[in-house]
Amino acid sequence: MLSRILDFARELLAEAIPAGGTAIDATAGNGHDTLFLTSCTGPAGKVYSFDIQEQALHNTAARLKEAGAAAELIQDSHENAASYIKEAAIDAAVFNLGYLPGSDKTITTTSSSTIQAIKSLLEKLRPGGRIVIVVYYGHPEGMQEKDALLPFAASLPQEEVKVLRYEFINQRNSPPFVLAVEKR
Ligand SMILES: C[S@@+](CC[C@H](N)C(=O)[O-])C[C@H]1O[C@@H](n2cnc3c(N)ncnc32)[C@H](O)[C@@H]1O
Repeated sequence: MLSRILDFARELLAEAIPAGGTAIDATAGNGHDTLFLTSCTGPAGKVYSFDIQEQALHNTAARLKEAGAAAELIQDSHENAASYIKEAAIDAAVFNLGYLPGSDKTITTTSSSTIQAIKSLLEKLRPGGRIVIVVYYGHPEGMQEKDALLPFAASLPQEEVKVLRYEFINQRNSPPFVLAVEKR
C-alpha cells in the first residue's frame, strides 16, 4: 500500500537520521514531530524544536516529558534556526506547515519565513541529509505559501539537491503533500 502523507514524511526522516544524529523540528506545534525526531536520534543525539508560540512549546514540553524524551525547545522563528545549532551539520529537518491545531488559525507559517528557513537549514544539512516539508494548502495563507514554495523548490539547483513531491492527486479538499529536499 502507498504510504499516507504523514507516514511517508516520517519514513524519509527516519532514513536520514542515525542514532546519535542531529535533527530540527522547524514547527513544534503539539510536539508530535519533535517526539518522533527524538526517537530517531535516541538519547545520544540532539533535537532542536522551534515555534513562535509559547503554547506550542508548552504542549511540546508536556508531550516530551510524558514520553521521557528531551529536546531543546526554542521560542523563535525558524528563520533564525541555524544560529542556534551548535553542531557542524544536521541530518534532517521537518516542517509541518500551517497553524497550531485547536488554536488561533491566524498564526500560521508564511512563505517568506518558510523559504528563508529552508535556505539557511540547507546550508547546515550534511550530504545525504533531508529537509521534509508537509504542505497544507486548504486555508488561504496555506494556498499562498504553496504557490511560493513550489517554484522555489523547483528552482533549487539539481547539481546540489534532489527535490521530491509526494502527493495523492485524486483526493478531495486540498489534501496535504510532502516536499522533500535531499542534499547530494
Ligand atoms: C501545523 S503546526 C505544527 C504541528 C507539529 N509539527 C506537531 O507535530 O504537532 C504549525 C506550527 O508552526 C508554528 N509557526 C508558525 N510560524 C512559525 C515560524 N515562523 N517559526 C516557527 N514556528 C512557526 C505555529 O505556531 C504552529 O504551532
